[in-house]
Amino acid sequence: MRNPIIVALDVPSAEQALKLAEQVAPAVGAFKIGKELFVAAGPDIVKRVRATGAAVFLDLKFHDIPNTVAKAVASAVRLDVQMLTIHTSGGSAMMRAAEKSAQDTAQALGRPAPLVLGVTVLTSMDGGALTEIGCEANVGHQVERLASLAVNSGLRGLVCSPLEIAALRKILPASMQLVTPGVRTGAEKADDQKRTLTPREAMAAGSSWLVIGRPIYAAENPRAAAESILQSLG
Ligand code: C5P
Repeated sequence: MRNPIIVALDVPSAEQALKLAEQVAPAVGAFKIGKELFVAAGPDIVKRVRATGAAVFLDLKFHDIPNTVAKAVASAVRLDVQMLTIHTSGGSAMMRAAEKSAQDTAQALGRPAPLVLGVTVLTSMDGGALTEIGCEANVGHQVERLASLAVNSGLRGLVCSPLEIAALRKILPASMQLVTPGVRTGAEKADDQKRTLTPREAMAAGSSWLVIGRPIYAAENPRAAAESILQSLG
């Protein structure tokens, strides 16, 4: 079975990231490099994590004019990432430009195109925050609206909260890949993730990939934590 665990390398330095990656690599499917690590360590960290043989999810959530996003996506493809994120609220032209750039750049390099994942509504936003920026207050409706726009713009995957999976699966083509952060095993200390499912529940609800940070990197033994999550998936 494909290992669906993506470990978030949410650490501030290349040394810490590579140490963590080395520790847990045999038990996981990929690593996520986000803004904290990328801004501190630069594009070189992507190459160094790739050099371990692991797949990389570059989570920089691009949101800009279509031409700029297309160029940023092309740069990410040249770094050889396997997944990357853009904001669906950038609109259909931006999403189409991102997907086309991923396909064209990968084809020119003779490698498979990375999965361009759309981010819908940030889980930090509630109805009030959506109203403030002129969107409809119902978070679920806004998520579904942006998810449908992403499908119609040619994206092949979305990032979503575990509690959105079931509703999205009802309206999305089955081929759509759903990448889900916010999973918790129940064994870890309480933190800022409030609305969670266990890894097994998230997969059963229809998630394709699980992004897991603190339950693995903050565990006493990150490798054992990753192995135990993998086993729990059955
Ligand atoms: O430590 P934890 O498992 O909460 O890490 C989850 C990862 O997924 C973090 O990198 C976080 O930024 C990211 N993420 C999230 N919720 C979202 C989108 C991304 O937790 N809605």
